[in-house]
Amino acid sequence: MIAKYNAKISGTGHYVPDKILTNFDLEKMIDTTDEWIRTRTGMVERHVVTEDQAASDLAYPASLKALEAANLKPKDLDMIIVGTISGDHPFPSTACILQKKLGLKNFPAFDVSAGCPGWLYSANIAKQFVENGVAKNILVVGVEILTKITNYNDRNTCILFGDGAGATIISRAESKDISRIIDSEITADGTHYELLIQEAGGSRMPASKESVKKNLHTCYMEGNKIFKFAVKSMDSMCDIVMKRNKLDVTSIDWLITHQANMRIIEALGRKMRIDSNKVIVNIEKYGNTSSATIPIALDEAIRSGKIRHGDLILMASFGAGLTSGSLLIRL
Ligand code: ACO
Repeated sequence: MIAKYNAKISGTGHYVPDKILTNFDLEKMIDTTDEWIRTRTGMVERHVVTEDQAASDLAYPASLKALEAANLKPKDLDMIIVGTISGDHPFPSTACILQKKLGLKNFPAFDVSAGCPGWLYSANIAKQFVENGVAKNILVVGVEILTKITNYNDRNTCILFGDGAGATIISRAESKDISRIIDSEITADGTHYELLIQEAGGSRMPASKESVKKNLHTCYMEGNKIFKFAVKSMDSMCDIVMKRNKLDVTSIDWLITHQANMRIIEALGRKMRIDSNKVIVNIEKYGNTSSATIPIALDEAIRSGKIRHGDLILMASFGAGLTSGSLLIRL
């Protein structure tokens, strides 16, 4: 495709629920320790929803913040894409529910199921809709309530997850703008889909008393295998966009990766030989919020003044599918 326009991230916002679950709270629930969780994952606490909160309840306030940051009103949007695997309902899409909450209708709204890279996949799609002139301002959200599909008897997984939403507006860039989404690469390796899976609740295994009893509506993960895939795939996705744009790692101002495990982030940093001061980390506060980790980290770093207009930012993610991807932007 020959791009008619450039796309850019024009605004960001995030929202996390008030309730906090600390490592010490988890010590009281399962056989684990604060020390094990901190040293093996880098996590200290995570935000979790109350029973009455669903994905769109987090996505809505995050979206309002992103619109405000972009200096736009909801009526300026012409598409909504939500990356999620824990939407309000199996159907309709959370994007349609969000569209109603924003008081909007009559334009495309859809969800993208790509595991943790859900926001990154959605940003890649939005970029193309803006570049070909079909849309001008797309709301792209990563939102997840993984704590409602977590097995709190499984210490291998239940310590990892938190809830949250990160929202971005992907807009058409003016010709004088230095800000733009420079490049993006997404891929999947479905041969290993069973390594990270919510087995029941779909057409393969509809809900039954048996499926609930066996906890099959919760997340099953083979952590060690995912760990290896994570480092390899994110390194490869970053390498592809850096090579394609004739950049080496010293030109990158900031690296924002999926916040799944501090040891994965460090291993990737070492493999890429990037200065550790350039790597954005907030895993200690939020845990793994799946598709929300990157847009939350991006928004936090912008609002704190760490990331500034004009900075070159490389993002990378991996997750269920197994999927992976990278996104290179100048803010
Ligand atoms: N507390 C105490 N001990 C524990 C805990 C816990 N919470 N969990 C596991 N252990 C034990 C294990 O039972 C094992 O004990 P054993 O040696 O007696 O058998 C020991 O600790 C080591 O277990 P490992 O699985 O080898 O631990 P590891 O260092 O690999 O860490 C972890 C596990 C944190 C899950 C890691 O593998 C990981 O982060 N993997 C990647 C996860 C990920 O990124 N997932 C993708 C995103 S999620 C999504 O897309 C929805």
